[in-house]
Amino acid sequence: MDSRNYSLADFMTVPDTDIMGRAKHFREYLKDVEDRKHLQYRRVSTDGSGPVMRVRDRYSGKIREMVYLASNDYLNLTKHPKTIAAGREALDKYGAGAGSVPLLGGTLDVHVELEKKIAKFKGCEDAIIYTSGFGSNCGTLLSLLQEEDVAVLDMLVHASIIDGCKNTNTRYFRHNDTDSLEKALQRVKDKYRTKLVVVDGVYSMDGDIAPLDRIVELARAHGAYVMVDEAHATGVIGCTGRGTPQHHNIEGKVDIVAGTLSKALGGVGGFIAGSNELIELLHYYSRPYMFSTAMTPQVAGSLLAAIDIIEEEPEHRERLWENIRYFRDHLQKLGFDIGNSETAIFPVIVGDDMKVRDACSRLHEMDVYVNPVLYPAVPKKLARIRMSLMSTHTKAHLDKALNALEEVGRELAII
Ligand SMILES: Cc1ncc(COP(=O)(O)O)c(C=O)c1O
Repeated sequence: MDSRNYSLADFMTVPDTDIMGRAKHFREYLKDVEDRKHLQYRRVSTDGSGPVMRVRDRYSGKIREMVYLASNDYLNLTKHPKTIAAGREALDKYGAGAGSVPLLGGTLDVHVELEKKIAKFKGCEDAIIYTSGFGSNCGTLLSLLQEEDVAVLDMLVHASIIDGCKNTNTRYFRHNDTDSLEKALQRVKDKYRTKLVVVDGVYSMDGDIAPLDRIVELARAHGAYVMVDEAHATGVIGCTGRGTPQHHNIEGKVDIVAGTLSKALGGVGGFIAGSNELIELLHYYSRPYMFSTAMTPQVAGSLLAAIDIIEEEPEHRERLWENIRYFRDHLQKLGFDIGNSETAIFPVIVGDDMKVRDACSRLHEMDVYVNPVLYPAVPKKLARIRMSLMSTHTKAHLDKALNALEEVGRELAII
């Protein structure tokens, strides 16, 4: 099989084959991608997230020291001495696991402390934590929205939101386009019991910020609620890192504030913050919460320390923003198309899957770790190299990446 003629979309279903046949077909595709040295997914690190990461090269078996531009660990709190120490302390105190699901014996005081801290940090009455951000978005939406309701979604919301809306009606509006949202809200007027507008605060593939102030205003005017997914905003935007509502000066005005604990907070898990009543409802109706073992105590311990660091050590966010400005200026001067990126996420839009694959392989060989984002994750014309920055990248790291990008960009006529 020549993988250049296919994309991941071609193996979602394979006509006239059962699951094993589909897996066999997909294996053939992946083998060809691998043979062409284009396989850059699931690279294995031997030392974890940091500005430079040790990565085992699948082709040579050797360890590469790579400038790591693929982490969501924006403030590098995975490696902060205080998050590590707090995790260790919780591990010693509670043991390695929570032992049960939250409703039936798995709730520890460290979980409740974390929920209270998140609620305060997000300016909400209460919060609920889950063991994944995907699970919290998906489980919350599945438990709240039913066939009498409608979700009005930005067309680029995260997959966890789309999957969470499978039991309800959905309408999409053009990305970050509030005129398009207004029209969508007018069209659903008087037709549904609950109308919920759902957006990301910062978009994961584009790095742009939702116009949340206007979105909330429009939703109010049309009798709709708003949910914002703060996965890539928490710790990064807003003057003290509280996210998109703080950035737009509308803290306390968003009905449901969702997020992950796995990105700038450096752990794993997700949260939903909102009113006391809403959070209580989720305790008893959100299936990934009810039917899944509670968060490991050491993660909860580390996360408590991470929120303190965000509040007490602004220097990490300041360094991240210095890096963002430096990298953006240089990419733009070199002539790369970085779309509307405003945050630590940088798409370099190339528009051709094969060029993106080639570029990522070349950059890998130059010890620069970036990710290809191809169709169907993005439309074919918007295939891109995706990069993200950390506060601990130095100018030397960024310059190494920029030089490699310039060389590859010229080689492949991207710039
Ligand atoms: C916008 C957005 N929401 C939710 C998630 C899911 O979070 P988690 O990785 O904690 O499951 C992600 C993760 O990639 C994301 O980018």
